[in-house]
Amino acid sequence: MEAPEPASEESLGRRALWKAPSGRQRPVLAACLTCCTLLGWYMASSVKDSAALKGQWREDEEPETTTAETLTVLVWWDPFGRGGFSYDCWPFNISACRLSTSRLLQRKAHAIVFHHRDLQIHRLAWLPQQRPADQRWVWMNLESPTHTTGLYNLSGLFNWTMTYRMDSDVFAPYGYLKLRPQPLVKFTLPKKTKLVAWVVSNWNESHARVRYYHQLKKYLPIDVYGSRRLSLKDNNVVKTVSEYKFYLAFENSQHHDYITEKLWRNAFESWAVPIVLGPPRANYERFIPSDAFIHANDFSDPMELAIYLKFLDKNKNMYQRYFAWRKQYDVKVSPFLTEHFCKVCNVIRKVGKQPKIIQDLSKWFEN
Ligand SMILES: *[C@@H]1O[C@H](CO)[C@@H](O)[C@H](O)[C@H]1NC(C)=O
Ligand SMILES: *[C@@H]1O[C@H](CO)[C@@H](O)[C@H](O)[C@H]1NC(C)=O
Ligand SMILES: *[C@@H]1O[C@H](CO)[C@@H](O)[C@H](O)[C@H]1NC(C)=O
Ligand SMILES: *[C@@H]1O[C@H](CO)[C@@H](O)[C@H](O)[C@H]1NC(C)=O
Repeated sequence: MEAPEPASEESLGRRALWKAPSGRQRPVLAACLTCCTLLGWYMASSVKDSAALKGQWREDEEPETTTAETLTVLVWWDPFGRGGFSYDCWPFNISACRLSTSRLLQRKAHAIVFHHRDLQIHRLAWLPQQRPADQRWVWMNLESPTHTTGLYNLSGLFNWTMTYRMDSDVFAPYGYLKLRPQPLVKFTLPKKTKLVAWVVSNWNESHARVRYYHQLKKYLPIDVYGSRRLSLKDNNVVKTVSEYKFYLAFENSQHHDYITEKLWRNAFESWAVPIVLGPPRANYERFIPSDAFIHANDFSDPMELAIYLKFLDKNKNMYQRYFAWRKQYDVKVSPFLTEHFCKVCNVIRKVGKQPKIIQDLSKWFEN
């Protein structure tokens, strides 16, 4: 995920934690609470602006929807970096669960989520001082081990993990397939006028994906988008990639379960056939059907892959087989992280009071 840049400490919870809203702000807060439902929908449906939501509750101002069963998940650093938010989880069909970035709720919260990226920036000094025994601290990280540092002094601190790995306590995938209630009878592919696209921002000659690209481009044209290369149509990945038959969904590093928005959004949402370079094929097949993608490892070398792609380009029926699974499944790209935060409530309800401590975080994550 191209995570949004974190905001400065000033714009994060610091103000919210130590200064209760002034009287002048209160009517604004009240107005915001009444429109939370609407905003909830707005957040769920709008990926881009989901963080526009502002609604810091005072401790004595519970939202009307709160009941004795309501669980509170506090997000310690707002990952959207645009000020506080509060949010009901019912748009994800998770009831009696609220998210907040208001640190006034620190002692009441059933769980607190800490984003590793921000933990790196703010360091341990910024963690809460008191910690109720039954409160879960959740370590969240969506980057791969290659791009994660500073794990060694976090042992014994967290109760749960929340990552793209399926064996996390809270599984937070970049996307997933949802079985359709009724199979789709027919669908139309976007008009495809070009062959292979790749969108890449972090260009590093020593990455496997760049080495593979250099080989592959000898045998067929590849349009590369991103910084200092082609610019995206209307600054929109999906709009741009939709015109292509294939998309290079190459991960920046190869790790178990590390399958990112490069597959889910860039390729699947654009209805381009993904050519993946990441964990082995069997790992992809835990998440998506075997005929939904082409794996670089399926070919002995990039030339052989190029020959196959040119063959599919000329053979419409064979190409369309890569879309057969679409009749059964819908692609869901996680709208920011909101849905994952909400899932913390499900996990709390599932495991009950059972305690857990992540004793050796780096051993687990880097394994
Ligand atoms: C919502 O959740 C309930 C209980 O967990 C389940 O029975 C129901 O099928 C879900 N509805 C949808 C639309 O997913
Ligand atoms: C871990 O320890 C190192 C060295 O003491 C320190 O510089 C770093 O900030 C610590 N990490 C966190 C997340 O506090
Ligand atoms: C490129 O990747 C290598 C190996 O992963 C890493 O050591 C190096 O720091 C990276 N270079 C840049 C400029 O990011
Ligand atoms: C969470 O972890 C802390 C610190 O490791 C521990 O003291 C506490 O008992 C754990 N709580 C639960 C509910 O697992």
